[in-house]
Amino acid sequence: MRNKVTVVGAGNVGAATAQRILEAGLADVVLVDIIEGLPQGKALDLAEAAPIVDHGAHILGTNDYRETAGSDVVVITSGLARQPGMSRDDLLAKNAGIVRSVVEQAVERSPDAILVVVSNPLDAMCHVALRTSGFPRERVVGMAGVLDTARFRTFIAMELGVDVSSTAALVLGGHGDSMVPLPRRATVGGVPITELLTAEQIDRLVTRTRNGGGEIVALLKTGSAYYAPAASVFRMVQAILQDRQEILPCAAFLHGEYGIDGLFVGVPVRLGRRGVEQIVEIALSDAERAALKASAAAVRELVGRLDTLSAPGA
Ligand code: 2OP
Repeated sequence: MRNKVTVVGAGNVGAATAQRILEAGLADVVLVDIIEGLPQGKALDLAEAAPIVDHGAHILGTNDYRETAGSDVVVITSGLARQPGMSRDDLLAKNAGIVRSVVEQAVERSPDAILVVVSNPLDAMCHVALRTSGFPRERVVGMAGVLDTARFRTFIAMELGVDVSSTAALVLGGHGDSMVPLPRRATVGGVPITELLTAEQIDRLVTRTRNGGGEIVALLKTGSAYYAPAASVFRMVQAILQDRQEILPCAAFLHGEYGIDGLFVGVPVRLGRRGVEQIVEIALSDAERAALKASAAAVRELVGRLDTLSAPGA
């Protein structure tokens, strides 16, 4: 049987994700949105590209969750995108309500799906998805680390004038200003960047990575990034559906790993057909561990605010 992926949210990230999945022939896609006509229009446009691109995958645009039944993966991109001057955290209250409603409707029809959360603020929205779905932690995963790591690699390649494919890097922590790029583990052709760049250069690249989403928002002025976010989601969905057992940095619910309990934080995970098949613990220096703790504390603070917002009478 062919794989079925539901993408909720027919905005830029959702539509670009659908396009990537279709054009790779990875799965049939159902594109859902609350706005009438939007998912239908984008789906028709994508379907009309199929004879040219020749991928054979099927796309359906709908406002009706019944069409999503039996999905293998549900990608949740819905919610407001950041505007200039707005932090991801400003989106907290609004998007928590949206994600809760989306998850309720999606999991009722696809109780065995793996949820890939993209909505911001990412780590907090993963909590909403986990709680609302009642799914085991293996089946709720957030997209952030793949994107943040790709941005770090891009900036390293630009700084050195090298092909980006020769770079490798890892970014841990929450998908926010406190994220933790690990320069010690970043390499170009196997050579640590600490031997290729000065401390000042590395600091600049780390800061640019932390502000990577905001940099795009400031340039676009009317929305946030979508090409690289969609490519990141695609990579995760591919790892899941093709059971690649690929190690990618993702937001996963930690139960004591890295000394963090009961929180979604970006860490390396092994992705396969069952979702998060393993949380990979790597050795961190004292400074890296402290930075990860600080990032986790920022996520915990947001999740705490979420609880206040959803408290009865609040
Ligand atoms: C970003 O970092 C949208 O959060 C996303 O661009």
